[in-house]
Amino acid sequence: MHEFAGYAAGALVGSRLVMGLIGSRYARFSQFVRGPRKTIAYAAAMLRNREPRHMGHNPLGGLMILLLIFLVSLAGLTGWLQTTDAYWGVEWVSEVHEIVVNALLVSIVT
Ligand code: HEM
Ligand code: HEM
Repeated sequence: MHEFAGYAAGALVGSRLVMGLIGSRYARFSQFVRGPRKTIAYAAAMLRNREPRHMGHNPLGGLMILLLIFLVSLAGLTGWLQTTDAYWGVEWVSEVHEIVVNALLVSIVT
C-alpha cells in the first residue's frame, strides 16, 4: 500500500509538471512562479495586510507549490531508492526519507 501510494503521488507530481508547462493559463508555472524579489515584496505586503489580489496563485502560493512538488518527489525518490540493491538498508537514505516526509507534513499543515 505504502509503495503504491508513494508511486501514485509521484505520478501525480509528474502530471502536474506537464500541466505546469502546457496546461491552461492559471495552471502554468510561468503564470504563478515569481522571483525572490517579488515573493519577498508580497510577503512583506501581506504582513502589513496590504497584499494585492492575484488571479490564480499569489507568489507565496506559487513558492509553496514548488516546495510541495519538490518534497513529494524527494519522498518518492528516497522511498524507491530503499527498494534498490545499491541503497537497500543504507541508513542515510531512510533518514532523508523520514526528514522529507516530516517536512512534507509540516508544509501541508502550513
Ligand atoms: C501534498 C499534499 C497537498 C498538496 C500538494 C496540496 C495543494 C494545494 C493547493 C495547490 C492549493 C491551492 C492553494 C491556492 O489557492 O493558491 C490547496 C488548497 C487547499 N488545500 Fe491542499 N494540498 C495538499 C494537502 C492538503 C490536505 C491534506 C488538506 C486537508 C486536510 C488540504 C486542504 C486544503 C484546503 C482546505 C485548501 C483551500 C485553502 C484556501 O482556499 O484558503 N490540502 N492545496
Ligand atoms: C509521498 C510519498 C511517501 C511518503 C509520504 C512516505 C512516508 C513514509 C513514512 C512516514 C515512513 C516512516 C518513516 C520512519 O519513521 O522511519 C516511511 C518509511 C519508508 N518508506 Fe515511505 N513514503 C513515501 C514514498 C515511498 C516509496 C515510493 C517507497 C518505496 C517504493 C517508500 C518506502 C519506504 C520504506 C522502505 C520505509 C522504511 C524506512 C525505514 O524504516 O527506515 N516510501 N515512508
